[in-house]
Amino acid sequence: MSDAAPETTGPDLGAGVVMDTIADGSMLAGHVGEQAVLLARRGSEFFALDATCTHYGGPLAEGLIVGETVRCPWHHACFSLRTGEALHAPALSALGCWSVEARDGKVFVRNRVPAALAVRVRARESPRSVVIIGGGAAGFAAAEMLRRQRFEGDIHMLSDDDAPPVDRPNLSKDYLAGNAPEEWIPLRPEAFYAEQNIDLRLKTSVAALDVAAREVVLSDGTRLKYDRLLLATGAEPVRLPLPGMDLPHVHTLRTLADCRAIIARAATAKRAVVLGASFIGLEVAASLRARGIEVHVVAPEKRPMERILGRELGDFIRDLHEQHGVVFHLDDTATALEATRVKLKSGGTIEAELVVAGVGVRPRLALAQAAGIAIDRGVTVDEYLQTSAPGVFAAGDIARWPDPLSGASIRVEHWVVAERQGQTAALNMLGARERFRAVPFFWSQHYDVPINYVGHAESWDEIAIDGDVASRDCMLRYKRGGKLLAAASIYRDRENLEVEAAMEG
Ligand SMILES: Cc1cc2nc3c(=O)[nH]c(=O)nc-3n(C[C@H](O)[C@H](O)[C@H](O)COP(=O)(O)OP(=O)(O)OC[C@H]3O[C@@H](n4cnc5c(N)ncnc54)[C@H](O)[C@@H]3O)c2cc1C
Ligand code: FES
Repeated sequence: MSDAAPETTGPDLGAGVVMDTIADGSMLAGHVGEQAVLLARRGSEFFALDATCTHYGGPLAEGLIVGETVRCPWHHACFSLRTGEALHAPALSALGCWSVEARDGKVFVRNRVPAALAVRVRARESPRSVVIIGGGAAGFAAAEMLRRQRFEGDIHMLSDDDAPPVDRPNLSKDYLAGNAPEEWIPLRPEAFYAEQNIDLRLKTSVAALDVAAREVVLSDGTRLKYDRLLLATGAEPVRLPLPGMDLPHVHTLRTLADCRAIIARAATAKRAVVLGASFIGLEVAASLRARGIEVHVVAPEKRPMERILGRELGDFIRDLHEQHGVVFHLDDTATALEATRVKLKSGGTIEAELVVAGVGVRPRLALAQAAGIAIDRGVTVDEYLQTSAPGVFAAGDIARWPDPLSGASIRVEHWVVAERQGQTAALNMLGARERFRAVPFFWSQHYDVPINYVGHAESWDEIAIDGDVASRDCMLRYKRGGKLLAAASIYRDRENLEVEAAMEG
């Protein structure tokens, strides 16, 4: 992950600024020496923090203050103004705090002080052993939060992947494009797990759950006891039932190994076919274009992403990709994959040395289902993310939870939601009884255009557009019966945060 070089713009906060120039609930970007610092006001109190988000280096001064928190404009991480703690993902590391002195109508920022993280759960329940099945977004965020809350019992994190938890969204974006160094990809360096006494077991597949005995059964027959269990098994790419799907140049993308295999193939490929015009498919298309490969996208829909983002953004995304040289074959599907070509239903063929199928994912529910845990197109959880089995929680792509905004039970496949659910599940495994109330959020990046989406709209009867989509300056509000369900924006980051805050109620 990147931390952008700190910018030392704005006033010298060490020399002091007049208090009244900072309105209640607003912030000022400045610096102390070479350090970029953010000065925020809430009522009569002033807080100073590092100005750069610990996720990807977003400029926090362009974000939003909500209560005693500051929200990052890029991917909505939420930090405590008082302690600097990264309260809600995707940032996981705290911001440095600075001491502040108010005198003679001026406020001076003095020294950087270490973050003093408050324990949010006074362990009312003290499980001895927590088992986490899954080494992805939700599983990792849960383990990290358990230790952040000073949980001292055993944490066993079981993953059938061969890589420690990685920044999965990067695998279709900068990393695949060749623009991200290796060190951005692990969520934490390998030493973290030993330091935090987290028993991370890779290439370890869980074969069954014995919820009566409170044990998980590994594929080699070993049994592991738990007091609390988190199911965070995520999702797996759908594999099309097509002749040739098993050929070596045909790939799906979920893991770091998948990504590396695509990169290796891309080194010699001149032309690629991407099956599917979804987020992952189109992000892959953009990244392969960045590598100079000719890209053809084949998809059954008439307009990319219309079902999720609507007609206007769908047309925009298609134009954007065409401007970058992507060739679309819409309203069409592949009927067979051969060593050097893809056959289409429309009768045509495309020569290609690389095929990437991005045609959706399927939640990995088999373990929960076989154990008799309640399932409804996902693992059913309550507002505390508890499943129907005692002591068993679920989070991430597999979990279907009661969404307070829509009143419906929903399941989404978003990175930030998975991490935040992992965090809430961790707190609740320690007895916090915290409701999961986060408004769903995701982002997607196509070339230099980020799309930020907040809320959840499976259908709508109106899209109210503010601004201009083609000029990349817009906010689209998805409504049903006049009620706002979701909003998508391009380069309206602060407004997107305001919509999120309003939806939180
Ligand atoms: C390439 C790519 C790009 C993405 N980009 C974005 C984006 O830009 N924005 C966004 O919001 N979302 C994005 N997503 C989606 C996001 O990554 C997922 O929503 C998120 O990873 C879900 O987290 P999870 O913890 O539920 O599952 P995962 O992160 O998939 O983790 C599941 C873990 O469970 C393990 N596992 C499963 N079954 C077993 C078993 N039986 N035994 C042991 N281990 C098991 C797996 O090995 C894995 O470690 C992207 C996804 C991909 C693949
Ligand atoms: S850069 Fe701040 S949340 Fe991603």
